[in-house]
Amino acid sequence: LSGEYFRYKGLPFPVGIYSPESLSIAENANVQDDDIFIVTYPKSGTTWMIEILSLILKDGDTSWVHSVPIWERAPWCEIIMGAFSLPDQPSPRLMSSHLPIQLFTKAFFNSKAKVIYMARNPRDVVVSLYHYSKIAVQLKDPGTPDQFLQNFLKGEVQFGSWFDHIKGWIRMQGKENFLFITYEELQQDLRGSVQRICQFLGRPLGEEALGSVVAHSTFGAMKANAMSNYTLLPPTVLDQRQGAFLRKGVCGDWKNHFTVAQSEAFDRVYREQMRGLPTFPWD
Ligand code: PPS
Repeated sequence: LSGEYFRYKGLPFPVGIYSPESLSIAENANVQDDDIFIVTYPKSGTTWMIEILSLILKDGDTSWVHSVPIWERAPWCEIIMGAFSLPDQPSPRLMSSHLPIQLFTKAFFNSKAKVIYMARNPRDVVVSLYHYSKIAVQLKDPGTPDQFLQNFLKGEVQFGSWFDHIKGWIRMQGKENFLFITYEELQQDLRGSVQRICQFLGRPLGEEALGSVVAHSTFGAMKANAMSNYTLLPPTVLDQRQGAFLRKGVCGDWKNHFTVAQSEAFDRVYREQMRGLPTFPWD
């Protein structure tokens, strides 16, 4: 079944990781007021944010990030055997989701639970997703870069359109329990970004703890941490012999991949789709 997708409420999802039942469970689950959700379009820095939050919740202590796999620290809401099916999660629950707002857990919108929405330059997202599609066994083969770019711009990839995802979630901006942050901001000022996240969570950290969060959530530290670099997954799920999950971890890698024609085609769709929205760090 590898590479096969089904549709749920109009959007494509890979068979084997998600199912109509697992998506429905996520949509209809109960939410607790102290739940913390990391929401992203795929390849926008979810793993990075999970590491940062895992460290913040432990006041900079590294024993959790060094002993428990990342998918157990912040289980996915929508996968088969997802977060909401787990019996004993400690409070506050930390959970991850790629769901667009219209499919997200409905109870969240009447709760005090928090969402941290992390976005990334969609040009870097598409490059990251292209490489990931070659190593993630359940995903469709990306085809040529040109074909993949066209599919991405049309939203014919898992979780649908990047544009719809960000336009849906950004409507939450200004709500007390919603933080919008970008991959680019973290790259520019990791320490300042961690402080911003701490403030949002109401969990201020002392200097030493803050230093530890920053030091242990760098790309190098995470790549060296077997609990966070996905090397514990078997090659039947993620074939890292073909390329690493933690691939490059930089901003602007798209410039090494896009042709001039691809860049212009991308810009045309971007301008059209994002008309009227505020500017982002990648604009
Ligand atoms: S997934 O599969 O959707 O959960 O992937 P996700 O974690 O959202 O995104 C993976 C990309 O994030 C990069 N990454 C980092 N960059 C900088 N610093 C740190 N600490 C970090 N951790 C993860 C990862 O390398 C992927 O980007 P690319 O561009 O492919 O390297």
